[in-house]
Amino acid sequence: MTLRTATATIDLQALINNFSYIKQKAPDSKVLAVLKANAYGHGLECIAKALSQFDHQADAFGVARLDEALALRTAGINKPIVLLEGFFNIEDLDVIAENNLQTIIHSQEQLITLCTAKLENPVKVWLKIDTGMHRLGINPEEFQYYYSQLTTSKNVDSSIVLMSHLGCADDTENKNTDKQIALFEEVTDGLSDNKSLANSAGIDAWYSSHYQWVRPGLLLYGISPMQKISTTQVFSHSSLVPVMTLQSSIIAVRQIDKEEPVGYGGAWKSDKITTIGVIAIGYGDGYPRHAINGTPVLLNGRIVPLVGRVSMDMITVDLGDSSKDKVGDIATLWGKDLPVEEVATWATTIPYELLCNISRRVQISVK
Ligand SMILES: Cc1ncc(COP(=O)(O)O)c(C=O)c1O
Repeated sequence: MTLRTATATIDLQALINNFSYIKQKAPDSKVLAVLKANAYGHGLECIAKALSQFDHQADAFGVARLDEALALRTAGINKPIVLLEGFFNIEDLDVIAENNLQTIIHSQEQLITLCTAKLENPVKVWLKIDTGMHRLGINPEEFQYYYSQLTTSKNVDSSIVLMSHLGCADDTENKNTDKQIALFEEVTDGLSDNKSLANSAGIDAWYSSHYQWVRPGLLLYGISPMQKISTTQVFSHSSLVPVMTLQSSIIAVRQIDKEEPVGYGGAWKSDKITTIGVIAIGYGDGYPRHAINGTPVLLNGRIVPLVGRVSMDMITVDLGDSSKDKVGDIATLWGKDLPVEEVATWATTIPYELLCNISRRVQISVK
């Protein structure tokens, strides 16, 4: 008996396809590929290496934490790496300088620490302006002060990148994006420094946000960043191919009578005699516990509904009364033929969370 435990198959050809899509959408921009959170659950090293080869090379990588950047350097990645939250401690600065990393500056604490540090070599900086998302970034009125401090500091490399982040670009009807782009234009007007604003949704839907650097995350992984997208629209967005396909085996097939409860709390009961399939994946692997009855699972060429509560290591699906499914059959939880966007909707979350939550015990198989 050989059964597959939860496996995420990573399709590097799909990654390259999505990268080419980004280059088509933003042909004049350099690409900073966002690899934070283990490359959105896909495996930091393998994604970075695939985007460092031949003619589909990212120009830089973006991560959230110093550890992620150092893991890339240890893996032999020599490309520019940007810390998207900047540095957290004064000690980080030496490590940043030694490893030729780049840092965002978004706060006064960071500005003072950087400008007063004793560094061997200057550090390359991305100055983050808050244009309306109100998460990280300096206020537009403070821009001149920060800009003059940074451009006159011996600790700062002369080529600064001016950046901001879009909060609502996934909704094409939201007026905030136009306002953010206009404010970014106004604050950075007349400056010849490189600029960066677009995340995946900006790349896909807001051409005027592209500037010299785009910063795709989700699009790289073949997933639409746009809100309110139906499964049909996902399939018709034929330019993107999901990089991850998450699968596991059926480990038991059980007949149950009408009205018999299934799983913890007996939260689901069938209204007829039916067959239940038990699949070896649960919230311990990253399958969302909040997925409700009816969440689609792809099995033997058809969709079967999740029934009952998601357990730590297993889920149960209703195979129907005439099922021919058997132990060992492979179920797809999301991927090429079942968009993660759709599963996320059933679990009242977003694809980003499902991907990042893939846990360490899931086997990663790169093809
Ligand atoms: C500063 C910054 N740029 C770009 C991205 C990539 O976003 P997305 O995955 O929506 O393309 C992120 C991710 O949250 C980010 O924090």
